[in-house]
Amino acid sequence: MAREFRLRPSPNADEASQDSGYSLDRRRFMRYSFNSAAGVITMASLGSIGFASLLMGTKDETGGSNSISYWVPKGQEAVVWFGSKHLESMKKSDFEEQSKTSTTKMSGAQGVWGGMPVTVVYVPHEENKDSPISSGLPRFQFKDGVDQTGAIIGFGGEIEDDPKWSMLKIHDNIVIIMSRCTHLCCIPGWQLVSNDFTADNWLPGGLDAGGNKLFCICHSSRFDPTTIEKNTNINKSTGAAFKFFGIKRTGGPAPVGIPLIPFKINNDILEVIDFEAEGVVEMLDWYTYCN
Ligand code: FES
Repeated sequence: MAREFRLRPSPNADEASQDSGYSLDRRRFMRYSFNSAAGVITMASLGSIGFASLLMGTKDETGGSNSISYWVPKGQEAVVWFGSKHLESMKKSDFEEQSKTSTTKMSGAQGVWGGMPVTVVYVPHEENKDSPISSGLPRFQFKDGVDQTGAIIGFGGEIEDDPKWSMLKIHDNIVIIMSRCTHLCCIPGWQLVSNDFTADNWLPGGLDAGGNKLFCICHSSRFDPTTIEKNTNINKSTGAAFKFFGIKRTGGPAPVGIPLIPFKINNDILEVIDFEAEGVVEMLDWYTYCN
């Protein structure tokens, strides 16, 4: 059942702005992630306890400051496979192990990085990419992104072809996605609810049919984590349009898909890549569609 809670500003926001321990500008990210100016959002299956303490992310001796932590929705501890891993650094091997229990050999989990909710999805792309698409074995796909007028924005495969976007290339059978819905900024989840869109099956083509979608329970938007497209969205603060690479919206009121987050694997631990330091500063815009 959906619940409402009031989002709170980080109690450590001032210290955060002075702390250079994170290479990215965390305050900007926080403003665009949990620290909603509107203050109230509807959460689906996700509890509020722990959010304030998560706003800053945590430095982790094993994973480094850019590591991503599991975040277990309140009340889901005994339900989700990562229920005992709350705030532990995410490991690729965890997803590989969990995928063995799945029909599709996919797995996913909710996480948090630097105050930003994220969803991590494992897809056995390397194993399946050369099999006939008719086999129905999941793999990543690239599609044209289309805006609300039907105009083509660009091709998701540019992340493979254009060196500028090399940090977004598909690797390690994983994608990491910002977990804010492009409708009204609720947090879509990986199999946190059970329905046809979240069932453990997969169909090619980036269609709304088939399961293993990220599902936003607030108003039922669906996103296909296996279909990468280029699309546009709007900076909530400035109104400026920007283009981004992300997973495809397949249904519901959300207008477009959700942006990718670049990452690397460091000794099995998932870490966000400092894209600002890499000179791709426009990516900061990608996460600004929520206040
Ligand atoms: S906020 Fe996600 S569908 Fe409305």
